[in-house]
Amino acid sequence: MSTIISASLLACDFSEMGRDISRAEQAGCDWIHFDVMDGIFVANISFGEPILEYARKCTKGFVDTHLMITRPERYVEHYAKLGSDMITFHVESTDNPRAVIDKIHALGKKAGIAVKPDTPVDDIESLIPAVENVLIMTVYPGFGGQSFIPATLKKVTEARAFIEEIGLDTHVQVDGGINEQTAALARAAGADVLVSGSYLFKAQNMSQAVFSLRGNADE
Ligand code: DX5
Ligand code: ZN
Repeated sequence: MSTIISASLLACDFSEMGRDISRAEQAGCDWIHFDVMDGIFVANISFGEPILEYARKCTKGFVDTHLMITRPERYVEHYAKLGSDMITFHVESTDNPRAVIDKIHALGKKAGIAVKPDTPVDDIESLIPAVENVLIMTVYPGFGGQSFIPATLKKVTEARAFIEEIGLDTHVQVDGGINEQTAALARAAGADVLVSGSYLFKAQNMSQAVFSLRGNADE
């Protein structure tokens, strides 16, 4: 299983977003991660549609949108049409996650389901067969630059075991506090998509940082 690295734009220099997207791609990042926060589902507001439209113009690569907004059913169409390749939303944010997944698929995009650190994998088991991506948050969503929560690793293991048991090739993504050390733990637990913001964008040498996140398995 090769590891996918998704660079979180939340940590880029917004005055140089186009340059930073190119920098991430040249350093070997596979996906660009776009964090949408509404100040209600999480205690922070990040960026939204016009910025996604701009980011989309800066890359032909895979745009991995993470919606941290209440009732995502209101916005998935906008974020799909503006060029997300995959839309991941939180199970805690809607009354009908299955309908949101179906809507994303009907728009021709990949769908992901996310859980906050205190939400058990049990709460999404019935949805896992319907999605392409399971996002296990490794920090409380809302802010970049937080410390990885080790207790979330057992959920990564559980999600991966469930996916293997039913023979699917669903991604298991981790997001929050990912650096060289925590990436190794997450990969060992079964994560194949690592989102990283601060660690990558603050690195002196981003290519080396990307390499370190992949670990030995991909050398
Ligand atoms: C947090 C966001 C993350 C964040 C990760 O709520 O979903 O994608 O940007 O940033 P780092 O890697 O700095 O923890
Ligand atoms: Zn995110």
